[in-house]
Amino acid sequence: MKRHLLSAADLSRADAELILSTAAELRELADRPIKKLPALRGRTVVNLFFEDSTRTRISFEAAAKRLSADVINFAAKGSSLSKGESLKDTALTLEAMGADAVVVRHGASGAPHRLAHSGWVRSSVVNGGDGTHEHPTQALLDAFTMSRHLGQGQARSLDGRRIVIVGDVLHSRVARSNALLLHTLGAEVTLVAPPTLLPVGVGTWPVEVSYDLDAALPKADAVMMLRVQRERMHGGFFPTAREYSRRYGLDGKRMATLQDHTIVMHPGPMVRGMEITADVADSDRSVIVEQVTNGVAVRMAVLYLLLGGSTPAVGGEE
Ligand code: NCD
Repeated sequence: MKRHLLSAADLSRADAELILSTAAELRELADRPIKKLPALRGRTVVNLFFEDSTRTRISFEAAAKRLSADVINFAAKGSSLSKGESLKDTALTLEAMGADAVVVRHGASGAPHRLAHSGWVRSSVVNGGDGTHEHPTQALLDAFTMSRHLGQGQARSLDGRRIVIVGDVLHSRVARSNALLLHTLGAEVTLVAPPTLLPVGVGTWPVEVSYDLDAALPKADAVMMLRVQRERMHGGFFPTAREYSRRYGLDGKRMATLQDHTIVMHPGPMVRGMEITADVADSDRSVIVEQVTNGVAVRMAVLYLLLGGSTPAVGGEE
């Protein structure tokens, strides 16, 4: 494994499988009454969040605490400094505090890369979502969730599986990281979106592209719905919300065309009634809440492996 996790493309197949198998061991902890291990005792993890987050920040915090690391949460939103300056000044502060790992979420694509390669900090940098670019730990938790449902928890089971990712791909760091990681793991990804919500250069991604949701659904082993990211939109990307839902939303009628084993996923936050109806989100096929639980185990595995814990992740209790 490299020192930083900035992009899903940083992970070889062996790296990704190691993270997923470590996460599988750690996942069992979530079902125990005492969820804590001493593996990262004395290490410091900083959560540096320049952009809003619920799930990701809490998940990294829970992951670090369950490994007994010290956690510092730094919500940089509202800083009056320009982004470049504030990133550098903040980085120097973190370095002075002796951070071993920094999880950074930033509105600017490339900010975690800048932090990792600037020489400002010596810690490992984990990308917790940068602009419209990447969100590698989300892709890892998604792959973990798929492997649990589609093949007894083996990462290899994603080989040849068909994953359909639907919606606002243009603004989605989740979609890009998933496309890269799923390709590494041997899955076949189809993106379904209106032409206006596909990024320039999608032709170079290792995916197929379709504009027809109804044609893609019956072949899918997993369907991942994406939120329409209105906060990143400055202009009309589709005629009306109603029209969007009609063509690209997942409702009960469309869900009925899925194969029996097919799961429905969403990284959250969901806009119920827009990209997904409430009956689908709350149905038996939905693994959306489980994705959140799995996220903690996957982030524990990432932190543990990046920080090269010296005791075994599980079983090192005194
Ligand atoms: C996503 C994100 O922030 O990239 N959510 C998440 O991390 N679970 C997706 C989104 O905001 O729609």
